[in-house]
Amino acid sequence: MKLFDVYPLFDVTIDHGKGCYVYDEKGQEYLDFYGGHAVISIGHSHPRYLQTMQEQAAKLCFYSNAVKNPLQVKLAEKLGKVSGYDDYQLFLINSGAEANENALKLASFYTGKKKVLAFSHAFHGRTSAAVNVTQNPKIQAPINSTFPVEFFELGDIEGIKASIANGDVAAVIIEGISGVGGIHIPTTEFMQQLRKVTEENNVVLILDEIQSGYGRSGKFFAHQYAGIRPDIITVAKGIANGYPFAGVLISPKFTPVYGQLGTTFGGNHLGCALACTVLDVIQDEKLVENAAKQGEYLMQQLKSMNIPGLKELRGRGLMIGIEFDYPYKEVRNRLIYDQHVFTGAAGTNVLRILPPLCIGKKECDLFLERFEKALK
Ligand SMILES: Cc1ncc(COP(=O)(O)O)c(C=O)c1O
Repeated sequence: MKLFDVYPLFDVTIDHGKGCYVYDEKGQEYLDFYGGHAVISIGHSHPRYLQTMQEQAAKLCFYSNAVKNPLQVKLAEKLGKVSGYDDYQLFLINSGAEANENALKLASFYTGKKKVLAFSHAFHGRTSAAVNVTQNPKIQAPINSTFPVEFFELGDIEGIKASIANGDVAAVIIEGISGVGGIHIPTTEFMQQLRKVTEENNVVLILDEIQSGYGRSGKFFAHQYAGIRPDIITVAKGIANGYPFAGVLISPKFTPVYGQLGTTFGGNHLGCALACTVLDVIQDEKLVENAAKQGEYLMQQLKSMNIPGLKELRGRGLMIGIEFDYPYKEVRNRLIYDQHVFTGAAGTNVLRILPPLCIGKKECDLFLERFEKALK
């Protein structure tokens, strides 16, 4: 059997990783400023992560959601404390798309309505409801348009108010910082207005923090810069440092109903144990603070660097976009093949910096030095 060939691949085979570095099968070291797409939060092969994996796997990897699972309760308590959402409820699944799928379903169950408002450059995943609120016709199949969606530019509060006034909107979904769309940060004023208009009209506000959450922005959640509290928050990517795991944080105003949501694998024992260790490491190693500090340093240095064709630098913490007025393809290739640095990208012109949250000044300086060389 052949693989279903949907991924354009770099000619690199990653064999193992350690901290902020990955290594190919010949032992070549790469600086990982991509984190496997913002997934590696506490670093590759963290010793505490490996220990938890070994100990939990030796005990129990999985048992069904039909029995009590104290690890789920422990994770919910920890996440509530670390994130500042102690009073919220946690539902666990396996991927970001699934998290948004369930968030949208909950909003629709709660309001009895179907329409969703979303943003033009956002990405929320590839399952049916998640892709329907992602404005990219290339990844939407005809069967995905199952409910009405209206798209707005980030910041268009008047458009959103007018749409909500029609009375048929179940939810607004927005990323804390848009990732795939090229690192666009909603303003504090816009987020506060959005919270106000959704609250006043009983519209569910869903914050997709799948990429911008778990400390990446320099706060636990990017929306916390605006001081708002959404009704639902979705998390995935870094929450178990590469083990497929995701969650939906649900406000106390939602009453759970037996059987309304469910999953086979979501909340499995191994994933919960790993997610608990990730939160412990994030706290003990002060990785949220580190993301803010290293991100600020990177931003300052990038601002003072002569970057030919630079259109705009955008970012918060360790979620930085470098937008060129030309396609990044050659620069990114030189970074990987000549300088041995992985970065992310968005569209055709934005390089995305999404390193593990444990990078230090040494890795930042190494990146800056190699990036400068790759520009030439
Ligand atoms: C903001 C955001 N939401 C949702 C998703 C989908 O997550 P997954 O690929 O785990 O389904 C992604 C993935 O890149 C994302 O960046």
